[in-house]
Amino acid sequence: MMNAEDFFKKVTAHAKEYGYVFPSSEIYDGMSAVYDYGPYGVELKNNIREYWWHAMVRHNENIVGIDSAIFMHPTIWKASGHVDAFNDPLIDNKDSKKRYRADVLIEDHIAKIEAKIDKEVQKAEKRFGEQFDKKMFLETNPRVVEYRKQMEDISHRMNSMLTDGDLAGVKALIEELEIVCPVSGSRNWTDVRQFNLMFSTKMGSVAGEDGGTIYLRPETAQGIFVNFLNVLKSSRMKVPFGIAQVGKAFRNEIVARQFIFRMREFEQMEMQFFVKPGTELEWYQYWKAERMKWHLSLGISPDKYRFHDHEKLAHYANAAADIEFEFPFGFKELEGIHSRTDFDLGAHQQYSGRKMQYFDPELNESYIPYVIETSIGLDRMFLAILSNAYCEEILEDGSERTVLKIPARIAPVKLAVLPLVKKDGLPEKAREIMDVVKYRYLCQYDEKDAIGRRYRRQDAIGTPYCITVDHQTLTDNTVTLRDRDSMLQERIPAERITEVLSLKL
Ligand code: GAP
Repeated sequence: MMNAEDFFKKVTAHAKEYGYVFPSSEIYDGMSAVYDYGPYGVELKNNIREYWWHAMVRHNENIVGIDSAIFMHPTIWKASGHVDAFNDPLIDNKDSKKRYRADVLIEDHIAKIEAKIDKEVQKAEKRFGEQFDKKMFLETNPRVVEYRKQMEDISHRMNSMLTDGDLAGVKALIEELEIVCPVSGSRNWTDVRQFNLMFSTKMGSVAGEDGGTIYLRPETAQGIFVNFLNVLKSSRMKVPFGIAQVGKAFRNEIVARQFIFRMREFEQMEMQFFVKPGTELEWYQYWKAERMKWHLSLGISPDKYRFHDHEKLAHYANAAADIEFEFPFGFKELEGIHSRTDFDLGAHQQYSGRKMQYFDPELNESYIPYVIETSIGLDRMFLAILSNAYCEEILEDGSERTVLKIPARIAPVKLAVLPLVKKDGLPEKAREIMDVVKYRYLCQYDEKDAIGRRYRRQDAIGTPYCITVDHQTLTDNTVTLRDRDSMLQERIPAERITEVLSLKL
């Protein structure tokens, strides 16, 4: 069995080798936490985006989309709280001169305790065999119970200190837990300081003046809030309704690691759902369930997902949960669902002087709607799909294959068209088929190398189906259709290819 770290290295290497994700500016030695998407990566990303957009905007008559600009009026970020509070606590190690997020150091410490629990479980599994009851073991084994108590205690203390802005307390906790710098191995830490994550720049004509500072948006959500009145007036929406947007966001992340999990430039898919005050918790439950359904509709094992309900809430939220996914480095946040009350619209009303209200014809009164937000990182979803899809298999004949089992409906290339040999009129026949199917799906024509090698190439990029044109095709116009995951082949009439594919996809 490969360990998780080696597995993740293989996934990132595969992503580069097969044109999914490249390090940015690589010929200039790269930039940390910035990545480019290659020919297959851009297709997968487009497909995930489209799958989300369809589910949110097309399937819900009361959700509309927008595409707001990345540059926005700087006061927006004052109103939203980002100028004052969009900070991460950072700490430096004086010996290695490396900078860390203080909360991440503590979370890594908690993860080490969790690893100890996993070890205990593995040992017990071996000892008790089939009779092993994992749930009972986790609840009753004294050592595990003690570890879990430690984890909860540390997490609880850290969260309270961060919420209260007690940075000295956070440093004291790092010292108490005897956390060492992973590079120097020393405990020679600076104080913990707040670091604002927004990138700032200057707008053209006002460069040099203080007033000219603008920010690259750290979330797409504010573009939705500030367009609330425009959408309300132009689209004849009635509360409850939603506004969706997909777009780039920028954060000057201190910790750059785990590939595309935490990037400095990334894409978000967000939806703000505006509801009548007092109904927000019902809608919150509704969207929690809907978003989980969306994830599961891709056919990935439900074991890979879990909810994490927040105990500590931001001051403006009255409920919040993450959908976590089991990445190769453990369960981590993939999507957030937040009940944000009227905080954002209320703040924009105060800062802009415009009434951010909805007139409810049934109540015959105006109010600032409450908001349920669903927010998922497109790149993070890409990583979830990619890492879940990567698979190394030993086949019956002893040979090996690496296959990306990407859900067929979002796979970049849907079909490969392969003439069995490069002669006897087979390439011409295969081209004929290709010229029909390529208008419907992204397809690849490949006649180079032996058929087995071509199948392996398609497996490695995750193509769910291959059509092979052989000599029989020339006599009865049938082709073989090969399934990527089962590797089974069936013979179908060439004229039914698009119909069969559309059923499968
Ligand atoms: N408007 C709410 C908001 O932005 P968030 O939890 O900060 O909430 C939402 O971000 C989602 O955006 C996360 O669940 C994650 O999927 C993605 N995300 C956040 N920071 C990211 C980063 N640095 N790199 C990649 N994805 C990120």
